[in-house]
Amino acid sequence: MPLTMKGFFLTVEGIEGSGKTTQIQRLAKLLRAHGQNCVVTKEPGGTPIGDRVRAILLDPQAEGMDPAVELFLLAASRRQHVIDVIQPALEAGATVLCDRFADASVAYQGFGRAIELQRIRDLNEWATSGIYPDLTVIFDLSEAEGLERARRRNAKENLYAESRLEGEDLAFHRRVREGYLAIAKEDDRRFAVVDAAAGIDEVFERFKALLSARAPKLKLTAAEGS
Ligand code: TMP
Repeated sequence: MPLTMKGFFLTVEGIEGSGKTTQIQRLAKLLRAHGQNCVVTKEPGGTPIGDRVRAILLDPQAEGMDPAVELFLLAASRRQHVIDVIQPALEAGATVLCDRFADASVAYQGFGRAIELQRIRDLNEWATSGIYPDLTVIFDLSEAEGLERARRRNAKENLYAESRLEGEDLAFHRRVREGYLAIAKEDDRRFAVVDAAAGIDEVFERFKALLSARAPKLKLTAAEGS
């Protein structure tokens, strides 16, 4: 991240049903309770334009979308998000907690859809103006368990309209999972993997322990004397 950025940029990634959204909400609650200014956001989406792009991307009726079109739409949403939300928040010194970011395109469109990784990295560089997370946490669990969890959640919350990528077969989600693990292995300074095959409370304990070690800037506990 450019040196002029005062904030902290944390992204969370994982396959469907990995529990990252719940974990990010819990973390935001904790940080705010300790007075930390944090912005919670997500991709695709995070801006009015991005939300409209998200609706197209996830629409199960958008059958036959070319993989490159999928990638371009994701990059379009990302560009608007970086300019309107992420960059200003980081410049203002906020902690940005982002549910998926550029690495998701490498995992899903690269490993999942077999688009050449370097093309995706080049497009990400453009879309993000080179703003990359300080830390990326991958919530890892088996694709079978993740998809089962995602199906249960969708049924409970009537989210059938949000499922074009979730509807891909198990082999696709296996490639995405393997992709995330491969990119984490390549760069263990920016990435960390949390085993997410446990209950929400247990995973949150693991997440906090990891952040204490890797992101001391985040206020996870009350300041002394407060
Ligand atoms: P979500 O369910 O975590 O909000 O993510 C929406 C879907 O978008 C999910 O199936 C993953 C997919 N996605 C990509 O394929 N590539 C990307 O770059 C991003 C950000 C999301």
